[in-house]
Amino acid sequence: MSKNPAVMSTPDRASNPPLEVHDLTVAYDQKPVLWDIDFELPDGSLTAIVGPNGAGKSTLIKAAMGLIPASSGYTLIYGKPLDKQRQLVAYVPQRESVDWNFPISVMDVVLMGRYPHLRLFQRPRREDREIAMSVLAEMGMDAYHKRQISQLSGGQQQRVFLARALAQDANIYLLDEPLAGVDAATEEVIFTKMKELRDGGKAVVVVHHDLQSVPGNFDRAMLLNLRMVASGPVAEIFTDENLQKTYGGRLNILSQMIEESRQQRFVREADS
Ligand SMILES: Nc1ncnc2c1ncn2[C@@H]1O[C@H](COP(=O)(O)OP(=O)(O)OP(=O)(O)O)[C@@H](O)[C@H]1O
Ligand SMILES: [Mg+2]
Repeated sequence: MSKNPAVMSTPDRASNPPLEVHDLTVAYDQKPVLWDIDFELPDGSLTAIVGPNGAGKSTLIKAAMGLIPASSGYTLIYGKPLDKQRQLVAYVPQRESVDWNFPISVMDVVLMGRYPHLRLFQRPRREDREIAMSVLAEMGMDAYHKRQISQLSGGQQQRVFLARALAQDANIYLLDEPLAGVDAATEEVIFTKMKELRDGGKAVVVVHHDLQSVPGNFDRAMLLNLRMVASGPVAEIFTDENLQKTYGGRLNILSQMIEESRQQRFVREADS
């Protein structure tokens, strides 16, 4: 895949993190839904954003990308303002926010990922179509390239949207619940790809609901509930206390996870 020229011409890449968000506050109708958020992400990282429904996870991603207005705050990409670096950020929106009945083929969705590499009004080139087919193949979706997106299953739609993000050949990937409602096979494909991106030096951020699979799959986490409760390496911040703060103290999540895995082990041992 071609190297993104915008990356190569960025002189401060080595000394600045791929993504920094500072002092971010967002309000809808005067009511704050995100309050004074600060974080930085390193290259080659896989970060889970977790928090209850309505915690502001989607808002955080959208505001960090400048897709919705913020009351205050700013985003830097490799130390530079977002506007000049937007093409380095790929975004997969939450399933619910997409109009899946929109009349567009799988190929055309994935080609949208190539637009940042084209001049204004330039049509996709043969090279762009080849890249689109190759990322579709990586997602196991190349046979569906002529299909309308309305005629795919939920898991297939997620794979196609991930393919669009891959086609962009970005450095930062912001994925809003890419694993919601997908089957085990699709989950495996998507997890494998996210880890591959991380191992290739990309910063990958994933809104994720399955707390149990965070410690085994992610390096870092952000625990969000209006405020950033904690942000950093999973091994340091994924504690019962922080999870209780995030989920309002209603859940004793880690103890529950430990208890469940103990029970599973007990069942397995009893079976054998
Ligand atoms: N366009 C909007 N107008 C008004 N309020 C909104 C809007 N979008 C989101 N909100 C509110 O902002 C808060 C945060 O919403 P957001 O979608 O970011 O939560 P989330 O953490 O992504 O939740 P979920 O887990 O359900 O996806 C919620 O209280 C929500 O009702
Ligand atoms: Mg959301």
